[in-house]
Amino acid sequence: MKIKINSLDNIHEAAKQFIEHMGEGKVFAFYGKMGAGKTTFIKAVCEELGVEDVITSPTFAIVNEYRSATTDELIYHFDFYRIKKLEEVYDMGYEDYFYSGALCFLEWPELIEEILPGDATTVTITTEEDGSRSVEF
Ligand SMILES: Nc1ncnc2c1ncn2[C@@H]1O[C@H](COP(=O)(O)OP(=O)(O)OP(=O)(O)O)[C@@H](O)[C@H]1O
Ligand SMILES: [Mg+2]
Repeated sequence: MKIKINSLDNIHEAAKQFIEHMGEGKVFAFYGKMGAGKTTFIKAVCEELGVEDVITSPTFAIVNEYRSATTDELIYHFDFYRIKKLEEVYDMGYEDYFYSGALCFLEWPELIEEILPGDATTVTITTEEDGSRSVEF
């Protein structure tokens, strides 16, 4: 499935489409270059899922936890960009998140490829020449 985001004006429309096609998967690994729009898209998806908190990429921690006000379900947002050793991810107890049944959105999954659940959904965000974004999964 490929979703086009022509500009930030239709990112919520794109997020809705994404949610419609998410299926039963819980762990979503977002690949894409720096600045591709991973955080921005995850934020839009979380908002469409009913999260009312301010959503920013986890800067000081590896993971941020949100709760949907509509479904009362937890959503975890990871950013592995700053990890130096896989040990840090073991120490934070990643399994409790990945296998919790809660939705998990991951930025920079390539840095934890060895421990990525086998059934994680690969999502790739690319910037097109005209500045629009494509989300493929
Ligand atoms: N769909 C989009 N259309 C236009 N601009 C976008 C879009 N998505 C993101 N941007 C812009 O691109 C910049 C980078 O976005 P963002 O922080 O989401 O990228 P990222 O992939 O999370 O980067 P990083 O790898 O550094 O975490 C921001 O200024 C954002 O406003
Ligand atoms: Mg980001």
